[in-house]
Parts: sequence; C-alpha cells; structure tokens
Amino acid sequence: MSIPPRFLDEIRTRLTLSDVIGKRIKVTRAGREFKACCPFHKEKTPSFTINDDKQFYHCFGCGAHGDVIGFTMRHDNLSFIDAVEKLSAEAGLQMPKPDPEAVKQAQKSKGLHDLMDVTTSWFEEQLRMRTNNAVFEYMIGRGLSEETLSAFRVGYAPEDGQALRIFLKNEGFSDEQMLEAGVLKKSERNGSLYCFFRDRIMFPVADKRGRVVAFGGRILPDHMRPPERGDFKPPKYINSADTVLFDKGRMLYGEAQARQAAADGHSVIVTEGYMDVIAAHQAGFKGAVAPMGTALTEEQILSMWKMIPQDEKVPILSFDGDDAGRRAASRSCDRILPLLKPGQSVRLAFLPDGEDPDTLIRSGGSSAFRKVLEGAMSLFDFIWASHAAGRDFETPEARAGVVKTLEKQIAQIADADVQRHYKELLRARVSDSFFRRYKGKSTKKTAQALGIRRPAVNPSVIKEQIILASILNHPHIHEGLEEMIGHYNFSKDSHKALRQQIVSALSNDPTLDSSALKNHLKQIGFEQEMGDILSESVYVHAAFSSPRYDVEMVETKFREWISEIEQRDWTEIKDGWKSAFHSSNEDEEDRLRELIQVKASDHA
Ligand code: UTP
Ligand code: MN
Repeated sequence: MSIPPRFLDEIRTRLTLSDVIGKRIKVTRAGREFKACCPFHKEKTPSFTINDDKQFYHCFGCGAHGDVIGFTMRHDNLSFIDAVEKLSAEAGLQMPKPDPEAVKQAQKSKGLHDLMDVTTSWFEEQLRMRTNNAVFEYMIGRGLSEETLSAFRVGYAPEDGQALRIFLKNEGFSDEQMLEAGVLKKSERNGSLYCFFRDRIMFPVADKRGRVVAFGGRILPDHMRPPERGDFKPPKYINSADTVLFDKGRMLYGEAQARQAAADGHSVIVTEGYMDVIAAHQAGFKGAVAPMGTALTEEQILSMWKMIPQDEKVPILSFDGDDAGRRAASRSCDRILPLLKPGQSVRLAFLPDGEDPDTLIRSGGSSAFRKVLEGAMSLFDFIWASHAAGRDFETPEARAGVVKTLEKQIAQIADADVQRHYKELLRARVSDSFFRRYKGKSTKKTAQALGIRRPAVNPSVIKEQIILASILNHPHIHEGLEEMIGHYNFSKDSHKALRQQIVSALSNDPTLDSSALKNHLKQIGFEQEMGDILSESVYVHAAFSSPRYDVEMVETKFREWISEIEQRDWTEIKDGWKSAFHSSNEDEEDRLRELIQVKASDHA
C-alpha cells in the first residue's frame, strides 16, 4: 500500500522529533538542538544531534541520519508501513484507508499497458507480412535498418477496420478497454466501433520506462494508397488522443532511449518528428527526442533537463531552416526563458533551408547533422540575433531602444541569478557593438586577412560599386544587362556619371574590352573614381565583380546576386540573422547589417 506524501508530512509536523526520540533514549538540550549518545553505535560522549526545526537527526560519530520515520524504523526495528502506523498513533492520526479507486486504476492501467504492448507486437508483425511488403520496403527505402525498425518497434496498421479488434478480443481484451486505450473509436454517425489507425505506418510512443502508451500513425506515400474520394485529404500523421496512459503534452517521443543515452553522456537533442528521432538515433545521436505535433511544452522542457544527469543541463533544440522553424524557435524561447536556472539552459541549432534532420542525415550523413549541432547558438545569442542584430547602435537613443527590447525579453527570466548574468552580458554586448561601429573598426576577418582597410561602409554605395566593377572588368555582360544597368537608381552622382560614360562608350563600340574601356574612362577623368571601385574591398563582397572571375560565369552570378538582393524583403533579412548567426557571427552579422541598410536605402 502506498501512503500519500501529504500524510507523511502531517506526521512529521505533528510530532516533535526530540520528543519521539526522548521517549526512547535520554536526550539533553544543547542550545537550539538536542544531544544524545547515539543509539546506533557504542559511544561515551554524545555525538548524536537532533534538530527539531529541520526535522532530522544526525550522528557525527557513525553518520546515522534521518527523519522521525527513519529513526523509528531503525530504533524500533519496524518496516516503513509499521513505523508509519506506530507514529500516526503517537500523533493521534488515522492511517489513510487504501483508496479503492486508486487500486482499481492501478489494475486498469496494468491491463491497458498489456493491451498496448500486444497491439504494438501485432503492428510489428503486420509490417513483416508478405502482403505488406511494400510498406516494409518503403521504410527500408527511407534508409532505416531492420535493426532500427525493431528498436523503435515500428509497425503497420492494416486497412481492415476490424482486424485489430478481432485480434485483441481473442487475446481477452474487451471493447471498453480498446476504447479506453484509444485504439478503437466509436463512429459518431452510427455508433459502430472501428480501429482508429488504418493503413498507416505505426510509431509506438513509449513512456520513460519504455512502456508503449500511445501511437503515431503516418499515412502511406501517395503512390501506395488509393486515391482520395472527393477532396478530403487525410492528415499525414494521426496521434492517439490523450488517455489514462498518455498525456501528449508531458511526453517526448524517444524519451526512454534518450534518458539512457543522456546517462551515457550523449547530448539530448530535440527534433520535430518521429522520423527525425529515428534517423538521428540510427546515425548515432541517441539522445534525440521530439514532441508530438505540438510546440514544446513547459513539462517537456523540464523533463528534458531532468533527463540530463550532469550539472550542466543544456539540450540542443534543432529547428528546420525555414520560416516556420524560426518562428517555432522564438516560441520555444519564450517558453524556456521563465524556466531557466543556474546550469539549466538550451542551445538552438538551425538546419539548412528545407531540411529536417532525417533528410539532412540521408543526404549529408551524420557529419552534416553533427556540424549543425556544433554550430548551435546559445540562448543569449539567439535572443540577441532576433532582437538586436542588424539594429543601429550609432546614437545613444538607438542603443537605448535596443537595450529596452532586450531587457523586456530578459525580464521573463524568473531566476534572479540567471537574469543578472543575462543583463551583464547584454550590457557588454551592447557596448561592444557600439564600440565596433563607433570606431569603424573592421570586424571582417576575411577583409583583415587580405590586408584590406575597410572603408566607412555604406552598403548602397558598395552595391553600386559592385555593379560598376562588374561591367568595367567584364564589359561583355552589358549587352544582356543593358536594361537593368540603364535604369539602376545610383545614389552617388559620380557613379551616375560613370555609368553614363560606360553606356555611351559601349554603345559606340560594343566590342570594347576591359582594358580599352578603362583606358578611355581614365582619359576622360574617372581615374580616381575607378580606383575606389576596382578594389579588393569591393570584390570581397561579390567575387564575380573581380577581373579574375571566370568570364563565362559572371553574368549568371551577377543576375543571381541582383535578383537575390531585390527579392529579399524585410522579414527575410531579419530571419536570416537568426539562422546565419551561428555560422560566422560577426562577419555574418556585418554582412547582414549591410544588406539591411541596402534594403533601407532602396525603399527610401
Ligand atoms: P513532418 O511533416 O515534418 O513529418 O511533421 P516528418 O516527421 O518529417 O515525417 P516524414 O519525414 O514526412 O515521413 C513533423 C511532426 O509533426 C507531427 C508529427 O509528430 C510529425 O512527426 N505532425 C505532422 C502531426 O502530428 N500531424 C500531421 O498531420 C503532421
Ligand atoms: Mn521528414
């Protein structure tokens, strides 16, 4: 029989520890504590102390230590239950009656656990039947080994809406139990009973002890199932509804394996779905888990931290490299901030656009996924990248604005120590950014490595210089780009003038080569302007503008570049921050800051 913890607390508060012990051995007061000769080892001078406030005893001689229940068990040589019974009598309390509901519930869930286990085995068998070979081959074709399929007990639910019901009936389970376990549903139309999962690939969901408590069922790929009637499109995945065994918001798929892996020192990695967990696990990332079709809940975050035995608990959350993934990251971040504790955080990793861990591992192997994980950014960096990166630090007002936004984020952190450290880091980061901008100090490592002095950066000027450098070094591209170049809205007058001269020179003689063109412009007074444009500090922004670039490729690359920068809209740039941030920090930060300013000046 289990005793509610509340009742045990009641005993501890009702009884004074020194009274209980004092009835059994001789105790003497010593300040705020009591002293005695330890009853658990032989001694002449007392080293046994009793602290009533803290409700424990401790012997400095033999190390004996415990509360009132522990003392009674040991001193009176009683079992736990018997000690509790004896003490409740001493305290004048009634022992709690065994709750018949709880007993029934315990028996019932045992039955349901059996049902789920038997069902899982049956699905596994169905997957291996010859008639369902195509499904098995589909899973193998997705790169999963037979061993992996078995480890995750992947199965198949056949199309027949009664087959599982008949099987479970023969195994001695009732319809009520099947309904309760969620494998059977009652039709709302006519009340008939049918199997919930039909013609789906089955992913059993196990609790932390490895017992199956729910299922996720994936639809077969289009070519393997009959065409839909009408325009009803069945959902790609269906999951068990919440049952007595299953609380979707509390569980993580892969939890049992991940718990073991975390104990063995693997990182806990959060992915988005069933296939990601399985593929990651097969590739050696054995700490992979996933929520089931929902954003991470508070309970799931706390349970992730609990899984990790080390003092530093920092699971990695991986997100798809698309907008949805970045939005999901922001949502998770908001949920996590209030829960942070010393040593308890997360890192965020962003996959390349359009990939999930499953596809990335298949195309790039485990090393590709490892790289993504290694590039995971700290939570602080993510917040910084989402709210501050790309913003202006030139003026005190601008700095104050950035700080305000970030402080609002940081205020969500409930733990005072963690919050203080975030604030300190924020202050340092802001003044660092300010310092870098204010001093005009170059942070472009590439540029530095090439020994290039970075000019005071005006991104629209650079963009114009790239355009002009490209034509000056590769005049042949003018023919195809005449329209664009002719209409381009140059911000700098000297650039406009130069464009004018280039265009007229090339329309007079379209066969002019680069050096002839440059010579001509030099003669009519553009030597200095060209000096600024034809420079490594421009080429470093756009390789194709350099005279060394492959002639054949210049025009294509130029077109890609121009359409890319034209198409980027504000949100995309902002999101770019987040995903790009982890890869090359300051370089990328600067590059994107420029892009943003280019865009700003385009819209001006
Ligand atoms: P995805 O659509 O990314 O699926 O959904 P997936 O896991 O990559 O599967 P494959 O690779 O296409 O086979 C991610 C997760 O969202 C939940 C599931 O948990 C899924 O694993 N989901 C998705 C649902 O619950 N219902 C749906 O209809 C779709
Ligand atoms: Mn996938």
